[in-house]
Amino acid sequence: MELLKKVSILISGRGSNLRALIIAFSSRVESGIKIVQIISNVPNVPGLKIAQQAGIPTTVIDHHNYSNRRSFEEALDICLRRVGTELLCLAGFTRILTAEFVAAWPGQIVNIHPSLLPAFKGLHTHRRVLESGTRFTGCTVHFVSSSVDDGPIIAQAAVPVLFNDNEETLAARVLESEHQLYPFVLNLITSGRLSLIDNKVNIKGSMSPEIVFNPLLMSQRIL
Ligand code: GRF
Repeated sequence: MELLKKVSILISGRGSNLRALIIAFSSRVESGIKIVQIISNVPNVPGLKIAQQAGIPTTVIDHHNYSNRRSFEEALDICLRRVGTELLCLAGFTRILTAEFVAAWPGQIVNIHPSLLPAFKGLHTHRRVLESGTRFTGCTVHFVSSSVDDGPIIAQAAVPVLFNDNEETLAARVLESEHQLYPFVLNLITSGRLSLIDNKVNIKGSMSPEIVFNPLLMSQRIL
């Protein structure tokens, strides 16, 4: 019997989160996760090379080849179902998914965003964080709803904003925490401890429905 959860990862570019997920899961059968394919809506992006080097099948579904969102998403859906996808991870995927697509994958799409949602949704996150003077930022992994950077929050990593930070230094620090948080959340999902109560994620055995993930404690955490 197949016990592994089949995961497809959607990218549009660099693929550093993709790499972190591959490192975390591709060689560990006991993890309960099997990355079955990588799909990019942009041809020739670095993330595709990372997947190919890891021996994971890749598909390009270039949105320019489709006359509307619906036909693009139909192609995407077929591609995902063909390999038996059970969980869909957005990792730097820049296309907005329609409400119809999201509804066809209930509770099966997760995304990572480089801020502590619901603050700083959208683009240029780090620039806006710096302009705001906030002391902490971070990243969030959440279930995807039909609104952009919205949906029940699964876990967050808090990252301090330093006085001399610029966009690049802050982005780099947040990205490091993303690379820890995303695999952590996939482990949580396969642990079967997650449930949705009143549209909030409840984690069985956790003190809070929306846990703050502290990377410094990561090495002590057993999942
Ligand atoms: C990450 O910051 C992620 O949070 C956001 O897009 C970026 C993708 O980076 N959604 P990468 O392609 O994973 O390196």
